[in-house]
Amino acid sequence: MYHAAVLTVSDRSFRGERSDTGGPLVAEVLKNAGYDVVKTAIVPDEQLLIEEALRAIADTGDVQLLVTTGGTGFAPRDVTPEATVAVCDRLTPGIPEAMRHASLQITLRAMLSRAQAGIRGKTLIMNLPGSPKAAQENLEAILPALEHGLEMLSGRPADCAVESSVE
Ligand code: MTE
Repeated sequence: MYHAAVLTVSDRSFRGERSDTGGPLVAEVLKNAGYDVVKTAIVPDEQLLIEEALRAIADTGDVQLLVTTGGTGFAPRDVTPEATVAVCDRLTPGIPEAMRHASLQITLRAMLSRAQAGIRGKTLIMNLPGSPKAAQENLEAILPALEHGLEMLSGRPADCAVESSVE
């Protein structure tokens, strides 16, 4: 079973002015998909603090999937994608491409998410938008293909020929 972590990025949730509903929902979706959610945390929309949290969680070596929610839009303090790119060794653009592709069937505003995804060490980090609805829709769009990526990332030989059709 893969270990996952959920990082909520929100000034208001960090200050306790708004309860965090996105993070717990993302954790629930991951649990239902068979992931063991071993860590959840909230940070404000500060690039250096987001980077610090991403590094700290990824570098435990115990988390294969690190999902953020929030801070992917156009507001001046939306910097989660920048923090993510800063800590990743390799980007995985297909994941946000697939999220936006699927989400555009639901709302044209899907193009406003600047979400990124990438790999730090043996951890896949990926951004989700902040609204619980948007986070769930984006996550569910890519979950079916994710395990194959995590298998490759873990170094286990993965057979790409199996289940290569649209899932
Ligand atoms: N994607 C899906 N599937 N559903 C949505 O409702 N909302 C969009 C977009 N992606 C949305 C979505 C909107 S309105 C914004 S502003 C961006 O995600 C960024 O959201 P964030 O700033 O909360 O991260």
